[in-house]
Amino acid sequence: MGKLPISILASGTGTNFQAIAAAAKAGRLDADIRLLLCNRPGAVVLDKAAAAAVPTRVVDHRRFDSREDFDAELLRLLGEAGVELVVMAGFDRLVTPVLLGGFRQRIINIHPALLPAFRGADAQAQAADYGVTLAGATVHIVDEEVDHGPIIIQAAVPLEAGDDAATVRRRILRQEHRIYPHAIQLFAEGRVRVEGRKVVIDGRSRPGEEALISPPLEDRPRR
Ligand code: GRF
Repeated sequence: MGKLPISILASGTGTNFQAIAAAAKAGRLDADIRLLLCNRPGAVVLDKAAAAAVPTRVVDHRRFDSREDFDAELLRLLGEAGVELVVMAGFDRLVTPVLLGGFRQRIINIHPALLPAFRGADAQAQAADYGVTLAGATVHIVDEEVDHGPIIIQAAVPLEAGDDAATVRRRILRQEHRIYPHAIQLFAEGRVRVEGRKVVIDGRSRPGEEALISPPLEDRPRR
C-alpha cells in the first residue's frame, strides 16, 4: 500500500503536528506529510516541521483581500504538492467553499471538546467553567459550519471540580495526540465513508459496552 499524501495546516504550537509526524516516522501511520502550511510567520510549528524535515510554506492570510483569495492560494499549493487529505491541526482560519470544493470530504479538523458541545474558541475553558465531568476531543470532517461536520473519532476525558482551563487543555491534548494519527490512518487505509451526517468506518471494531463514568461509581454508597 502506498502512503497517503497529506498536508497539515497549522497556526501555532504544533504539538498535533509533532504527534502525527512522529507516528509517520515510527511506521504507525502510512502517510507522507508533503507540506506544512502555516498562516503565521514565526509560529513555533515551523521549527517543529524543520526539525522533522517536512517542507513548509508560510502563507500570511493578511496579504490577501478576502478569505476566498487566501483559500485559492492554499488550494494551489496543495494541488502542487499532490495532497489527497488536508489535516487542520490548530489552524486558526475559517475555510471557505473555495477550499472545501477542492477537497470534498477530504479536510479534517480536531476540536478540543466532545462535539457538539463547546464549539468555537476556548472549548477547554468553556468545559471547565461549565462544570462538565466528561470533556474530550473530536476529529471531524470539515464542512461549511465551524466545528460541525461528520464525526470520525472522539476521546472522553474525565474532569474534576478543581480543574481549570490549563489542566483541562493538557489532559485533552494528550488524547488528541492519540486519536489524530489514528483518524488519519483510517483514511490511509481507505476505510472512511461519509453517509449524510455520519461517518462509516469499514471493518470498524465494535465499541466496548463499558461506559466511562465520571465521577466513578463507588462500590458502596457512603453513609
Ligand atoms: C488543539 O487543542 C486543537 O484541538 C485545537 O488547537 C490546538 C492546537 O494545538 N484546534 P497544537 O498547535 O497542535 O499544539
